Amino acid sequence: MIALDHVTKRYGDLAAVDDVSLTIPSGEVYGIVGQSGAGKSTLARIVNLLERPDSGSVVVDGTDLTALGTADLRAARRRIGMVFQRFNLLGSRSVRGNVELALELDGVPRAQRRARAQEMLDLVGIGHRGDASVHELSGGQQQRVGIARALAARPSVLLSDEATSALDPETTASILDLYRRINEQLGLTVLLITHEMDVVKTACHSAALIEAGRVVESGRLVDIIRTPGSRLTSQLFPLGTIPATVESDATVIDITFAGGTADRPVISRLAREHDVDVSILGALIEQIGGTQAGRTRLEVPTHAAAGIITDLRGQNLLVEVLQEGVRA
Ligand SMILES: Nc1ncnc2c1ncn2[C@@H]1O[C@H](COP(=O)(O)OP(=O)(O)OP(=O)(O)O)[C@@H](O)[C@H]1O
Ligand SMILES: [Mg+2]
Repeated sequence: MIALDHVTKRYGDLAAVDDVSLTIPSGEVYGIVGQSGAGKSTLARIVNLLERPDSGSVVVDGTDLTALGTADLRAARRRIGMVFQRFNLLGSRSVRGNVELALELDGVPRAQRRARAQEMLDLVGIGHRGDASVHELSGGQQQRVGIARALAARPSVLLSDEATSALDPETTASILDLYRRINEQLGLTVLLITHEMDVVKTACHSAALIEAGRVVESGRLVDIIRTPGSRLTSQLFPLGTIPATVESDATVIDITFAGGTADRPVISRLAREHDVDVSILGALIEQIGGTQAGRTRLEVPTHAAAGIITDLRGQNLLVEVLQEGVRA
């Protein structure tokens, strides 16, 4: 588990990380998402104490990193593997040599190093490229080397800062798939720092949204989707604004569902039972946090709106009113 407690980091007048408290449960794929400049990378560097916070504590697997001396901190950092956007591989070394590097610094004997590196390269799907030079590999393959290197020292946490940002969508999908597999096979906690909502949608169990150094929302995606007014959910289901063609006296509602309700014929039944016309203004269904979830935007006659909303909420659906129609 990673527990950040009231962590603040200032650069001059700017609080890049501003009083952040966050718990990242063990064994989860956890996304930290936010716009450029929100403070994500600063937060990532704080998690392994490459950056020391001005105040607050950083507890990883029960150890408060802020309380450790240099030698103990160096040891504790080995429990956290880092993967970077620009891969940061050494061009002068082979693929295998890059994976062996951290083990070499730890004084692991050569034969053991080799075996471990091969095991990790096999795990990430490039076991046959160990002798290649890193320049001969594609971006996606280089990122796999970066992941193998981060895993070599058997960390309990894998921390990735925009590791897929330089990759095309297909390669990104395969790398996210790899993160999920590593999480499941090795039971590792994976912290994915990203500005892309798709990364959160595809790979994460939980997420935190940060803005101007502060956490504005956090939790398991299945719970976030059920939270009224959630900004993360609006970004997961970008339905946009209400079309200008919708009359101002109509009522517009968003229905959000997760899990079993997704395939129920909610809308046709509504129209039938309330004897009204219902227009679908937008709908998105996604696989989120391992469950099917969706949001549907409906235009309903205002005179029937109250009954419809009560009915839907009775079915355990999240209903949010976007436009309250004026009753004639
Ligand atoms: N070493 C530093 N010195 C001064 N200011 C810094 C430093 N590092 C970061 N900042 C500032 O802190 C804020 C947060 O930066 P950070 O790199 O954490 O954002 P980010 O969310 O990772 O952005 P991006 O998505 O662009 O990578 C920014 O305003 C940045 O300019
Ligand atoms: Mg960054």
